[in-house]
Amino acid sequence: MSGAGTFYVTTPIYYVNDKPHIGHAYTTLACDVLARFKRQDGFDVKFLTGTDEHGQKVEKSAEAAGMEPKALADMNSANFRELARILGCSNDDFIRTTEPRHTQACQALWNTLVERGEIYLGHYEGWYSVRDEAFYAEDELITLPGGKKQAPTGAPVEWVKEPSYFFKLSAWQDRLLAWYDANPDCVAPASRRNEVMSFVKGGLQDLSVSRTSFKWGIPVPGDEAHVMYVWLDALTNYITALGYPDTQGDFARYWPSALHMVGKDIVRFHAVYWPALLMAAGLEPPRRVFAHGWWTNEGQKISKSVGNVIDPLTLIETYGLDQVRFFMLREVPFGNDGDYSHRAMVGRMNSELANDYGNLVQRVLSMIGKNCAGAVPQAGEASDDDRVMLGAAHGLLERLRESLDKQLFHEALEAIWLVVRAANGYVDHQAPWTLKKTDPARMNSVLWVLAETIRSLALATLPFMPSASGRILDQLAIPEEERTYAAFGPAYALKPGTALPVPQGVFPRFVEEAAP
Ligand code: MSP
Repeated sequence: MSGAGTFYVTTPIYYVNDKPHIGHAYTTLACDVLARFKRQDGFDVKFLTGTDEHGQKVEKSAEAAGMEPKALADMNSANFRELARILGCSNDDFIRTTEPRHTQACQALWNTLVERGEIYLGHYEGWYSVRDEAFYAEDELITLPGGKKQAPTGAPVEWVKEPSYFFKLSAWQDRLLAWYDANPDCVAPASRRNEVMSFVKGGLQDLSVSRTSFKWGIPVPGDEAHVMYVWLDALTNYITALGYPDTQGDFARYWPSALHMVGKDIVRFHAVYWPALLMAAGLEPPRRVFAHGWWTNEGQKISKSVGNVIDPLTLIETYGLDQVRFFMLREVPFGNDGDYSHRAMVGRMNSELANDYGNLVQRVLSMIGKNCAGAVPQAGEASDDDRVMLGAAHGLLERLRESLDKQLFHEALEAIWLVVRAANGYVDHQAPWTLKKTDPARMNSVLWVLAETIRSLALATLPFMPSASGRILDQLAIPEEERTYAAFGPAYALKPGTALPVPQGVFPRFVEEAAP
């Protein structure tokens, strides 16, 4: 390790009541890019994903499928594990909330909260949505024309009346507000932070944290008529995976750097309940929660009843993994909602990958192959244009750090594409094919500057498109140990005379099948 620090990044854990869809793939991919970037930048990284397997929603789905909840969880958890693999994810752990290590962590957290006087036994009477696994206050509900009530998310709600343990959330209002104030970056983007703060300022109710009307959950220690509320169970996964209740070891090492990446619908759980629970247990809240937006499909809300759910595996089969990874993080400013469409996907794939980046690499490497005896050419004295080009390429890493530390993937990719476009402009302007006849030494310089620019670009795109970028680095004969950011910049610049393999295209165009 270079001593750059530690980095802990997590996806939400996914409910096992259903198959993986584009929303799951999105967060997982975003986390993977961050994990890869930080590892390449010398950080000691832990990247966690997994599945959320308890609660009424999973129990009901299992019942509907005529299965035991654990059997349904085993089946669907395996699908999420497989999705991570197919997405090329570099997760270091995959947690399941049905694992013994997790029961142990949840019960330890529960006992700590009880010991600290943060949990008491009472009676819950109010609205609950099984689909959202969330309690709602009367004034949050929408009343439909017939008088029926609905959650603000559109999910059905039911009236629940049962004994319940409560977490004294109401006592944490001021301390939460003080935490947001003291840590301006702890919830992002700013719109979500404002939303969370105004929710907390509006006053907090104690949170019901156990249920007695079903069984599929982690038993409350000492009162087995109750199972823990599934969100208390689920949130705890982030510390289970660090070895909690042991707060030495991985917990001490990674927890201070925790970044939870979530969708905008679950920000309240992560930025209100979770930090309050942690503080109540005497632990630090996470360092940051980033909430991204939601995808629509060809302009329409994605829903099972409409039948327009996007299967990430189909996308990958159709367009290719690197292309899908690129599209999802390039198309939409991270944090905003975005629309998936075949047209937008093909547009990015053909214009930015095949035309801009792919052609740059292909034409430069084939000119080197043909005119420089298949080896890195020797550069002469640098011109002003060369210095500008190399300055932009070598300056990229700093730009990426700035953007990715704020999870602004689209900004990072835009910075990379500015260099891709500048390099294409440089090729056209320098016209090495003309120099070949008039000034071969200058042609060599130009091709060296371009090859070095491509090396920087491939290192920059490696976290986003590991496979294609790796193949570009192969074509530049970059050894494995020089594929880190310690090798970014002039100190590791390409060495003239290095033999290069025969170039091959890495970004195919998408060609529409002709209509029958
Ligand atoms: N199990 C909880 C999370 C517990 S974390 C301690 C959960 N699971 S989920 O499977 O329903 O959803 C996981 C994620 O998918 C959420 O972050 C949600 O925002 C995201 N998405 C679901 N549909 C989506 C889109 N259409 N677009 C983008 N993300 C979406 O919630």
